Amino acid sequence: MKGYKVAIVGATGMVGQEFIKVLEQRDFPIESIEMLASDRSAGKKLFFCHQEIEVKETTPESFKDIDIALFSAGAEVSRYFSPIAAQSGAVVVDNSSAFRMDSKVPLVVPEINPEDIKKRTGIIANPNCSTIQTVVALYPLHKVNPIKRIIVTSFQAVSGTGLAAVGELTTQAKQVLNGQATTPHVYPHQIAFNVLPEIDVFLDNAYTKEEWKMVEETRKIMHADDIAISATCARVPVFIGHSEAINVEFSQAMSPDEARRILAQAPGVKLLDDPAISLYPQPWSAAGTDEVFVGRIRRDASHLNGLVMWVVADNIRKGAALNTIQIAEEMIKRDWLHSGGQK
Ligand SMILES: NC(=O)c1ccc[n+]([C@@H]2O[C@H](COP(=O)([O-])OP(=O)(O)OC[C@H]3O[C@@H](n4cnc5c(N)ncnc54)[C@H](OP(=O)(O)O)[C@@H]3O)[C@@H](O)[C@H]2O)c1
Repeated sequence: MKGYKVAIVGATGMVGQEFIKVLEQRDFPIESIEMLASDRSAGKKLFFCHQEIEVKETTPESFKDIDIALFSAGAEVSRYFSPIAAQSGAVVVDNSSAFRMDSKVPLVVPEINPEDIKKRTGIIANPNCSTIQTVVALYPLHKVNPIKRIIVTSFQAVSGTGLAAVGELTTQAKQVLNGQATTPHVYPHQIAFNVLPEIDVFLDNAYTKEEWKMVEETRKIMHADDIAISATCARVPVFIGHSEAINVEFSQAMSPDEARRILAQAPGVKLLDDPAISLYPQPWSAAGTDEVFVGRIRRDASHLNGLVMWVVADNIRKGAALNTIQIAEEMIKRDWLHSGGQK
């Protein structure tokens, strides 16, 4: 099997660390791997398949002779380095929001729109974590009975903000339990034992950017510009695993049993739906797993054609690292890595 020369940009971060784990676990065909981060981490050591690898500062020269560059170091870093990496001949799969809504850049969830990879111009975008789990759960239903409207409320884990936020929740939880005062640094308010209805910046339309990403990205991935979508995103004091309450209106009525039957066969989905034994998805048990878990499927009492459901996934795996690596695997499987787009 051919091995690829891979670079991870943001290798020391929350998602970067998961890239390493997922590449190892899935036995990704690797000839060589570069661990890249900022100058702060240069010289640190990371392990890949029991081999110690030194972290290097990301520079324009980092991408010479790289086949696949997996980016997860924030939008600013991606905006600067991704085009350089693509021009150097690497295929970039970018986890940041920098290029997601660029009409020339495919935004891909392999279970849904793998064919879009072919349109690549050197960069492929990985969607926002909350969007990925929404579309993996809804698209199989949409194919059978087109969706007209989605109302989604997310309960998002602090790991979605990166390593510093995980540290902040840990510190604050101890402080609160010890009766001490907390000082927020990452979030605008205390996150321990609290819920914050603010993820990313507020926009002129009074939604947050995270909420608007869910609206725009869902339509782009599903190729469904006419679906009406409204999202409310809240940060909750959970370490890993985003949860979503989703109300969905179809073109025609769909029974909960039919939805369960479809979702039981859907790629990447696992049904956990037996209220009699309190079986439903939970972030605690989704952490460290690959599936999008769906449960609490019931008729929407407010609309004849509506269903309600509860959807949970590990935001660092399917929401970020796993989906990114699945995109790279899809390119390899279809022999698209060195064809199409600009190389
Ligand atoms: N966490 C999630 O659930 C999630 C989901 C989807 C997408 N994402 C996206 O993934 C990206 C990273 O998220 P994260 O959670 O991994 O954040 P993180 O834990 O804060 O890690 C950030 C990483 O970026 C690196 N970095 C920062 N500035 C850099 C620079 N100038 N040049 C090169 N590398 C630089 C950091 O390196 P140093 O260690 O040297 O500072 C670190 O490796 C963000 O764009 C985020 O939106 C995250």
